[in-house]
This record gives sequence, C-alpha cells and structure tokens, in this order.
Amino acid sequence: MTVPRSEYLSTAWAEGIFANRVVFITGGAGSIGSAQTRAIVHLGADACIIGRSVEKTEAAAKEIAKVRDGSRVLGIGGVDVRNFDALKAAADRCVKELGSIDYVVAGAAGNFIAPISGLSPNAFKAVIEIDAIGTFNTIKATMSHLIRSASQNPNPNPSGSTGGRFLSVSATFHYTGMPLQAHVSAAKAAIDSLMGSVALEYGPYGVTANTIAPGAIEGTEGIQRLASSQVTRGEWAKGIPSGRWGSIRDIADATVFLFSDAGNYVNGTSLVVDGAGWRRQGGA
Ligand code: HXC
Repeated sequence: MTVPRSEYLSTAWAEGIFANRVVFITGGAGSIGSAQTRAIVHLGADACIIGRSVEKTEAAAKEIAKVRDGSRVLGIGGVDVRNFDALKAAADRCVKELGSIDYVVAGAAGNFIAPISGLSPNAFKAVIEIDAIGTFNTIKATMSHLIRSASQNPNPNPSGSTGGRFLSVSATFHYTGMPLQAHVSAAKAAIDSLMGSVALEYGPYGVTANTIAPGAIEGTEGIQRLASSQVTRGEWAKGIPSGRWGSIRDIADATVFLFSDAGNYVNGTSLVVDGAGWRRQGGA
C-alpha cells in the first residue's frame, strides 16, 4: 500500500524539483531516513539506501519506490558505516547503477540510554564509531561524486536543481550536555564540527554541508529508546514550546529545503527542527 504524501511531505514543494538527481542515504530504512528518502524520491530523484540488515534495507527500498511511478530505489544491505571499504563499494555501485550521487544523507546512528557509570569504554566507542566515524566514512566515500555533481549542476543552476549536497543528522543534546546520553552528545558534536570543516574545504567546489538537528520526533526508534512509556512521552511533549512532538514529515521537509534551490546559500550550519524544545528543556 502506498503511504499518503501527507505522512512524509508537506504540500509546499513542487513535483519534479529533483528530477535526474540521485540521493545516497545511510540509515535510509529507518523511520527518519525513509521519510527523507520518500520525500526526495516523490519530488523526482532516484535513491540508494544503505543499511546493516539486508532484509530490512531491501524491503524499505521496495516500499519507498512506490511513491512515484518510474522511480529507481536501490537498497544495499549488509553495509555497516563503520566499514569504509563496504561503504565505498556501495557508493560506487550506486553511481554505476543509478548514474550519479547528487545528494547525501549521513543518517545512520546508534543510541541507547546509559549513565557514564554504565558505559564501558567499548560502549562509548561503539556510538562514536557509528555516528562520528560513520559520518566521516560517508564523506570520504561520496565526496568525489558530490564534487562531480556540483560541477555539472552548479549552484545556482538556472536549468534545474543544483548538485553536491551533504547532509548529516545530528541532535541538540550537545548544546547543553545531556544525562544518560554522554556518548551520543559527544558523537553528535563531532558531526556538527565535521560539517563545518566540509563546508570550508569543499564549498569552493560548489558542495554544501549542513546538519539537521531533530528534536523529539514521534514514532522513531530513538524516541522509543529514550522515552519508552506513553507517560514519559506525554510529560516531555508538554514542555516543547511549539506544543507538540515533531513528525518525520518535519524532518523530511527540512531536508527538501536544504537540497532544493531554496537552500543554495545555506552552508556549514545546523538547522534545528525541534519546536524550540532544547531552549526550554535543554538538549531535546
Ligand atoms: C550500556 C550498552 C548498551 C546499553 C549496548 N551496550 N547497549 N551499554 N547500556 N543499553 C554496549 C555493549 O555492552 C558493548 O560494550 C558495546 O555497547 C557495543 O555493543 P554491541 O551490541 O556489541 O555493538 P553493536 O552490535 O555494534 O551495536 C551498536 C549499538 C546498538 C549502538 C549498541 O544499539 C545498535 O546497533 N543500534 C543501531 C540502531 C539504533 O541505535 N538506532 C537508534 C538511533 S536513534 P561491551 O563493553 O560489553 O563490549 C538516534 C537518535 C538520537 O541516534 C537523538 C534522539 C533525539
């Protein structure tokens, strides 16, 4: 069954704005990642989604492809972002089969709740490796393709959307520090910092690099882990100034903005999509 557009994308965006483009996304089978991919594919792009589980990744690719007749969505499972060689092979396969990589979303992440006293050195390292080193590996595996896309579809581009966009998915925890999330906060701070360096080093090639920092997004695995009971979630939502939880659609819309022509001059920054939650509550 096709997922209705309203569940993953607002009506703000014109059909076809990403025609002839390809998005490469790690964590693309996850709740936020698949909404981002659906939105970009709906608006004309083809996609390659990367994940650790072969079954989950291939099934998600099939589902995402249903949003637009004629779309091509490649699911490459068995790829851990901690393994650079596997990621590089996936990026090269994406270009071979779909023709290019014009946009990248580094969305793969790892999370669990634990106080510092309950974090082994290996537990801390596992999250740093998935989030921070995984993002670095994604940059290294795709940057040559993004540079090529940016040179072929320059920013601004009178004849269509521009190319060469890198986006990572961060968080707001590290703005204040966050109990039980020391490992994730540290990893997300590294990701924000990396995007600044990418913007400075690759901006001259026409590439942009930004992060989206989601707040508490309803229905995601992250929130299941962070607030497992309905009561905890209800209490948390009451403190969000915008008066509601975020939706996967909110993140998909922010992604479309950053990849669209409307985001041409946004580079090296973090777009916080959290209903001002972190300002009130600190870190979420
Ligand atoms: C303490 C824990 C733990 C826990 C695992 N570890 N869970 N320590 N509390 N709850 C420890 C293990 O004991 C081990 O340390 C180390 O972490 C590595 O665990 P492994 O299971 O061997 O690692 P791995 O199989 O690579 O799994 C990585 C993972 C896992 C992060 C631990 O949860 C995972 O694969 N997650 C991916 C999916 C995911 O997390 N999605 C949610 C992302 S949401 P020792 O010392 O025993 O060897 C998100 C949103 C954040 O990021 C922002 C929200 C607003």
